[in-house]
Amino acid sequence: MENGKIRVFSGARPTGRQHLGNYLGAIQNYVELQKSYECIYSIVDIHALTTVETTKDLKQNCLEMALDWLAAGVDPEKSIMFIQSHVPQVMELHTMLSMVVPMGKLTDLPTFKEKVRMHPQNVNYGLLGYPVLMSADILLYKAELVPVGIDQAPHLEFAREVVRSFNFRYNTQVLVEPQIKVTTVPKVMGLDGVNKMSKSLNNEIEIAADDETTRKLVMTMVTDPQRIRRTDPGDPDVCNVFSFHKMFSSDEEVEEINRECRIAGIGCVDCKKRLAKNINASLEPLRSRRRKFAEKPDQVWEILYDGADRARKIADQTMLEVREAIGIPIYREF
Ligand code: TRP
Repeated sequence: MENGKIRVFSGARPTGRQHLGNYLGAIQNYVELQKSYECIYSIVDIHALTTVETTKDLKQNCLEMALDWLAAGVDPEKSIMFIQSHVPQVMELHTMLSMVVPMGKLTDLPTFKEKVRMHPQNVNYGLLGYPVLMSADILLYKAELVPVGIDQAPHLEFAREVVRSFNFRYNTQVLVEPQIKVTTVPKVMGLDGVNKMSKSLNNEIEIAADDETTRKLVMTMVTDPQRIRRTDPGDPDVCNVFSFHKMFSSDEEVEEINRECRIAGIGCVDCKKRLAKNINASLEPLRSRRRKFAEKPDQVWEILYDGADRARKIADQTMLEVREAIGIPIYREF
């Protein structure tokens, strides 16, 4: 594609301020991919509508997420970063794709069944069409590679089938079959040490949290449950605090804590204090960049508008080809 680089597309629902799990899983990967690919990253606000209870925070959540992406190093000079609904062609493509999607495929998807289990009182039409809209996201930009967690694999396979059905039905090659690039997510557990870090479980540390908030949250982390008294030796292998040390502390310090915990040389309180200090130190550059961007939200919106303008150029071209392939009469603006 541009500069002969392979085009990457990924999207994330605007869940507001991102936590360490999002950072170590998706966001760092987004930043890394910019080195080798032409990247398009979308904040998928329309997808968010399928499950949110209220839209009152939607705009703010988009901004907070954009701030975290920018602070982490998503670079609008290199990549396109935009809000999904700012390129409404995606909804048009979604409708056109929906005609080649058998209903049964949608109701069979494990991701759909899971959502029905989670929100039995709100099984709306949009929820069923979620994977069609996601396919439209990817196909509108003719993305070749889609970095997502393994939980999204059924959606990617679905998108590939949509391409084959569409191209076969209209005897065309316009849509491109995307490949999945599975993001290997380090298992980041929440403060409870039992569940994956997640906003809905309220067990998270936000990347943007200040030092003191981070410290307080780290102090609440669950450690080796067998270690009750200070004098009991601990087992770092089952301790969530230790897993975080492995992500945020130097090799020497990890080694030392591993050794000292096992002989009760270091207590959990000290171990956590050191972890909080290391998390804060390693996130400081990101947090300071974030503070600077947050002072000028208008500038962040401009970055997103500019991203949408660039994305729209690609989208318009694809839609013209799609209309021609289907045989839809072309309006004079095209
Ligand atoms: N469904 C994805 C998720 O929940 C978000 C998403 C929407 C997406 N559109 C996309 C991911 C396109 C990759 C490509 O994580």
